Amino acid sequence: MEQGSTTLSGGVSAASADTPRYNDAIVRKFCVMAVVWGIVGMLVGVLAAAELAFPFMNLDMPELSFGRIRPLHTNAVIFAFGGCVLFAAMMYSVQRTSRVRIFSDTLANITFWGWQLVIVLAALTLPLGITAGKEYAELEWPIDILIAVVWVLNGINFFATIRKRRESHIYVGNWFYMAMIITITVLHVFNSLAYPVSLTKSYSVYSGVQDAMVQWWYGHNAVGFFLTAGFLGIMYYFLPKQAGRPIYSYRLSILHFWTLIFLYIWAGPHHLLYTALPDWTQTLGMTFSIMLIAPSWGGMVNGIMTLKGAWEKLRTDPILKFMIVAVSFYGMSTFEGPMLAIRSVNALSHYTDWGIGHVHSGALGWVAMISIGALYYMLPKVFGKPAMYSVKLINTHFWMATIGVVIYIVAMWISGVTQGLMWRAVGADGSLTYTFAESVAAMHPYYVMRLFGGLIYFGGMLVMGYNVLMTVLSGEAVPALTSEGRGA
Ligand code: HEM
Ligand code: HEM
Repeated sequence: MEQGSTTLSGGVSAASADTPRYNDAIVRKFCVMAVVWGIVGMLVGVLAAAELAFPFMNLDMPELSFGRIRPLHTNAVIFAFGGCVLFAAMMYSVQRTSRVRIFSDTLANITFWGWQLVIVLAALTLPLGITAGKEYAELEWPIDILIAVVWVLNGINFFATIRKRRESHIYVGNWFYMAMIITITVLHVFNSLAYPVSLTKSYSVYSGVQDAMVQWWYGHNAVGFFLTAGFLGIMYYFLPKQAGRPIYSYRLSILHFWTLIFLYIWAGPHHLLYTALPDWTQTLGMTFSIMLIAPSWGGMVNGIMTLKGAWEKLRTDPILKFMIVAVSFYGMSTFEGPMLAIRSVNALSHYTDWGIGHVHSGALGWVAMISIGALYYMLPKVFGKPAMYSVKLINTHFWMATIGVVIYIVAMWISGVTQGLMWRAVGADGSLTYTFAESVAAMHPYYVMRLFGGLIYFGGMLVMGYNVLMTVLSGEAVPALTSEGRGA
């Protein structure tokens, strides 16, 4: 395998005399809000987990009922937390890898304030029960339009920055961001097409099985392009930077990129196995899902092998630990996903907590951990501080996150498989062995266990919040690293 010969151009040349002044003020804002929304979104996740274990926790208030706070949680963690991390990382790395300032500060600021407005509107409407009823696309049509505008303006800014780059090469991380920007635009616009009947209610233009098909074409590729491609862009920039090594194989990263984006887009029907969707479509989804193991594992190997020759850094560098554990979870969830896409496995796993376990090994293990690593990398630099306030606290956070996610997903695997087996158990006469209520009762210990794991993970986020606050408030600013300066 070719050893990576291409370095992160922005990193190598950042200190040279002709380095432009970057706009890091915008990165600062997105980083801080990422931490804030991470804490809020996971707090709502903990509340949702608590309600499943102890239903009285909804306090009999419709606004706090599980059905309303669940989409609040998913929107908050994916689009508020994940979105802010993506914007911060995109804007930080595209400037450095292109060796130019972001194309337009105004567009960057519109992106920031527009996105925060979307988040606030989501936080107001979802608890009130205002929803389009499509998973991960719950927001009603006026907010959808706002999302599209903000997203496209950011896209224009990103592409224009790439266009005016002072580096002939476009670094692979930027390819992943570009794929995300284009694909999410198309997915969001087409899946959200609806007939508005009032300011707060609309109906999808699709119906029946077509609606389901479009929804999961969107839903799956939101995972593929937002939660995966975007965060791979983060991995390809921040992991080599933190490790102080070039990416293991640049050639493999290009292969990873093209195969991933070609295969992902077909896999949506694996969410609709055993439904009215035509059989061949289901088989297509299943086949492409299984093929997805190859690029995903290629990417994982590329990330992990970047540490070749520098493994000892893992002993002392908790930020690197976050990143490597994240990549390992990426490998694990992209092995589990294709398995779940096999019809006979899906017959057992669908509708059960196994899916929730899979989601959170991807979300808490991969997405959140790579995000946290990148945030710890960026924060001191964009605030012009020599380092984070406490490395010890980063280490504490790392262990809380790792232990929390393991407890969460193990609980869900056990409860998921138990549910699946209880639902299909039949006696000699063909009657069901268990009632549905019995399966619900059997889940209780695992829901308590998940709540416990979630609380630990959430506690880690509070530790991060404190560390970030102290970093911002204390320590001398390093002039060479200040916001408009020549950040590393
Ligand atoms: C403290 C951390 C977290 C806790 C306690 C938590 C808890 C929960 C709970 C209780 C549910 C509902 C499960 C159900 O319907 O049975 C859920 C769903 C979900 N969560 Fe989390 N969560 C956390 C963090 C995250 C993060 C960081 C992400 C994404 C980056 C995420 C993404 C999701 C998604 C996508 C779903 C919907 C899953 C599905 O429909 O299959 N969660 N979470
Ligand atoms: C090769 C990669 C992957 C494949 C083939 C895959 C496949 C699957 C399958 C088959 C399901 C269950 C569908 C069902 O029974 O309803 C599923 C659910 C899900 N996966 Fe993955 N997965 C992959 C990677 C990931 C990653 C990395 C993440 C997170 C970052 C993720 C997030 C989700 C979410 C959020 C759901 C729940 C969707 C829902 O609300 O029902 N997946 N995935």
